[in-house]
Amino acid sequence: MKGIIFYYSNSGNTKLACQYIVKNIKNIEIDLFDMVKDDIPDLNDYNIVGFAAFADIWGPSKLVQTFIEKLPQQDNKFAFVFNTYGFISGKTLKILDKWVTAKDFEVIAGHSLHTPESYPPMIASGKGYKQAPSKKEMNEFNNFVFELNRFFYLLNKGKEIQKKNISIGLLNSLLPMIPRAIARKNMGEKYIDEALCTECGTCEKICPYKAIKLNPKPIFDMNKCYGCWACYNHCPNKAIYTKKYRGIGHYPKPNSQLKEKLKV
Ligand SMILES: Cc1cc2nc3c(=O)[nH]c(=O)nc-3n(C[C@H](O)[C@H](O)[C@H](O)COP(=O)(O)O)c2cc1C
Ligand code: SF4
Ligand code: SF4
Repeated sequence: MKGIIFYYSNSGNTKLACQYIVKNIKNIEIDLFDMVKDDIPDLNDYNIVGFAAFADIWGPSKLVQTFIEKLPQQDNKFAFVFNTYGFISGKTLKILDKWVTAKDFEVIAGHSLHTPESYPPMIASGKGYKQAPSKKEMNEFNNFVFELNRFFYLLNKGKEIQKKNISIGLLNSLLPMIPRAIARKNMGEKYIDEALCTECGTCEKICPYKAIKLNPKPIFDMNKCYGCWACYNHCPNKAIYTKKYRGIGHYPKPNSQLKEKLKV
C-alpha cells in the first residue's frame, strides 16, 4: 500500500506540514511530490493521493488548478485534501475538493491548518500570526492525522471506508470565491532596486509561473505573473518591490516556532 501527496508550497509552510503528515502516518508509505515540477508520476503506483496547497486569496492557486487539470481521469481512487492558511482560508479546501472530485477521485477527508502568514501585505499590516498554529489548532491537525491513520489502517485491512464531509465552517463558507487573476492585479507592477540586485537569478528560478527572465536584471512578464509574491519573498537582497511594499513583510521560509511545532 502506497500514497503520494502533491503539494504546492511557496514559503515552505505547506511542505513542512506535509512532511509532518508523512512522518506521523504509520500504516502506509507516502511520497511527496512538488506540483511545480512539470512531470507527473504514474498514479497507478498509488492507492491514495493527497492534495496540499496554501490559501491564495481565499482559494487554491492557479498553479494547483492547472496541475489537477493535467491529471488523468480516475476511477474513484481515494484522495484527501489539505491546506494551510495565514488568516482566513476562505473556500480553499472546498475548491480543492471540487477540483479533485471532478477528476473522479473519492475525497475521504480534508483539513485546513492555521500557520504563519506569508502574504507580505498582511505581514506589513502587523498580522503575521507568527505563533500559529495555536495549541487547539495543533490538536485539530493531529486529530486529522489520526483520522488518516485510521483510514489507511482500514484500507490495508480491505475494510469499508466511511468518507468524511469536507467542512470549512460558517465564516469561510460565507466568503465569495475570488477570480484567480485578482491576485495578479492586487500585487501590480514589480520593480527592481538596481543597487541591491546582484543578478543572482533566484527570482527567475523560484517563479512558479515562469514569468521572470534575467537580462541581466529581472524582467517581469505581467501576462504570466499570478501575483504569488514568491520573487518578493525569496530575493536574498530584498531588491524586488511594488508600488506599496518595499523592504517589508518578507516570509521566505517557515519561522522557527512553526519548525519547532512541526519537527520532522
Ligand atoms: C499570494 C498569497 C495569497 C495569500 N492569501 C491568503 C488568503 O486568502 N487567506 C489566508 O488565510 N492566507 C493567505 N495567504 C497566506 C498563506 O496561505 C499561508 O501563510 C501559507 O501557510 C503559506 O504556505 P507556504 O509557506 O506553503 O507557501 C496568502 C499568501 C500568499 C503568498
Ligand atoms: S533574486 Fe533579487 S538579487 Fe537575485 S536576480 Fe532577482 S532581484 Fe536580483
Ligand atoms: S513574477 Fe513574482 S509574483 Fe509574479 S508569478 Fe513570478 S514569482 Fe510570483
